[in-house]
Amino acid sequence: VTLGIDIGTSGTKTLAIDERGNVLASASAEYPCSHPKPGWSEQAPELWWTATIETVKAVLAKASLKPADVAGIGLSGQMHGSVFLDAEGQVIRPALLWNDQRTAAECAEIEHRAGGRENLIRMVANPALTGFTAPKLLWLRNHEPRAWERVRQVLLPKDYIRYRLTGTYATEVSDASGTLLLDVANRCWSRELLSKLEIDPALLPPCYESPEVSAKVSGRGAAATGLAVGTPVVGGGGDQPAGAVGNGIVRPGAVAATMGTSGVVFAHTQELGFDPLGRLQRGCHAVPGAWHVMGVVLAAGGSLQWYRNELAKAEIEAARSLGIDPYFLLSDEAALVGPGAEGLFFLPYLTGERTPHFDPDAKGAWIGLTVRHGRPHLVRSILEGAAYAMRDSLELIREMGASIEQVRVSGGGARNPLWRQIQADIYGHDVHTLESTEGPAFGVALLAQVGTGGFSTVPEACDATIRLAEQTKRDPKVQPFYDSAYAIYQQLYRDLRGSFA
Ligand code: XUL
Repeated sequence: VTLGIDIGTSGTKTLAIDERGNVLASASAEYPCSHPKPGWSEQAPELWWTATIETVKAVLAKASLKPADVAGIGLSGQMHGSVFLDAEGQVIRPALLWNDQRTAAECAEIEHRAGGRENLIRMVANPALTGFTAPKLLWLRNHEPRAWERVRQVLLPKDYIRYRLTGTYATEVSDASGTLLLDVANRCWSRELLSKLEIDPALLPPCYESPEVSAKVSGRGAAATGLAVGTPVVGGGGDQPAGAVGNGIVRPGAVAATMGTSGVVFAHTQELGFDPLGRLQRGCHAVPGAWHVMGVVLAAGGSLQWYRNELAKAEIEAARSLGIDPYFLLSDEAALVGPGAEGLFFLPYLTGERTPHFDPDAKGAWIGLTVRHGRPHLVRSILEGAAYAMRDSLELIREMGASIEQVRVSGGGARNPLWRQIQADIYGHDVHTLESTEGPAFGVALLAQVGTGGFSTVPEACDATIRLAEQTKRDPKVQPFYDSAYAIYQQLYRDLRGSFA
């Protein structure tokens, strides 16, 4: 039995799996995120630790596991967050999260110090994005110099939990790729960039491969959680690479399209590749010797959440009181109108956009409204707009030469049959769902199986445990229509960009 622990943004999820990948038990605990100023996003690392203790204990109890039954633990979590620790290992200030937007000036500073964007991409495979870790370090140095002086260690969210469980500072390559400080090609910290940024490499922990054992549960970790002293903890993975392992995206060919609040298109690659414009995020995969490219749509499912909360409140409350899933109510409405929502387009840039525009100022919009349009059109255009935004990332992945033979969909956007059909028709690919929908926690529990000898490689672990569920076929009659509508969608951002600032 292995455990997977995923330190998410809205909560922590822990699960236990057996050697065949069966989920024995799972538990979640939620916590809030604070926004002390517009664009800021922070969390106290103690919240993650409390949630870890609670969910580990719950899983051990639910599955009737003795501490010694747990052969290994995998950790996953929200990427890019920065935990600042002092010489005693105490947290200095709340962690800055992946969706924090305060670092635009520091991103410019990094590109300048690196000798331009292209040089930066050569060193760390990515352009400077506001959510990444390195700009957060510079922000602390520039804005809270007293706190910065006390910093002796910087950890990613899941690596802070590793520290609490084991007393060891460590990370692994897939999450480290999102710091902007990893030499992604060579899978080690970039001495070159660290020196240009004047950041002491001693602030960063040793970096492992994802399935490697990195540390063992300490006496304190065991006392807090009920786990056994000495239980191995493998490297684990950032939530996106870990989720990809959980979806079996561990060879070229299959691509994952995951629509949660954000939407992510993720592909495995055998080579790192290079794009001077850095239009996709690149990093080490949680599969040793492999890399990934991914595109991130900030408000995919988030656009529909916004509609539900702001424009369909009364209906949703009525549905809830009848025990109906509000999202099914919305999709029933959307199904009343055909593809294209009678000429109505929705741009889903409600919180700016990452891929492909890297534009924190991008805004959402409905374009093409007429008196003929009603609520069904509004909803359908949102489902379509989110899928067009995901297609932007798929097109870039195609352009970079990665082969797309199969698209595996997950997240809220995959649970809904209409949205699955829209995705198939807009992507121009049949889409597949998977039997297990447990995501990153499942992926790192598999990595723990690999690291503790249950399987010899990550692909072997995936082949033995991951099964496809349902296939939604693209409709060849509708697809040409969506191809031309997609061209209009792309043009709309270019036309409107100037009015967004
Ligand atoms: C990936 C990213 C998010 C976070 C939060 O680059 O920013 O997916 O990992 O889950």
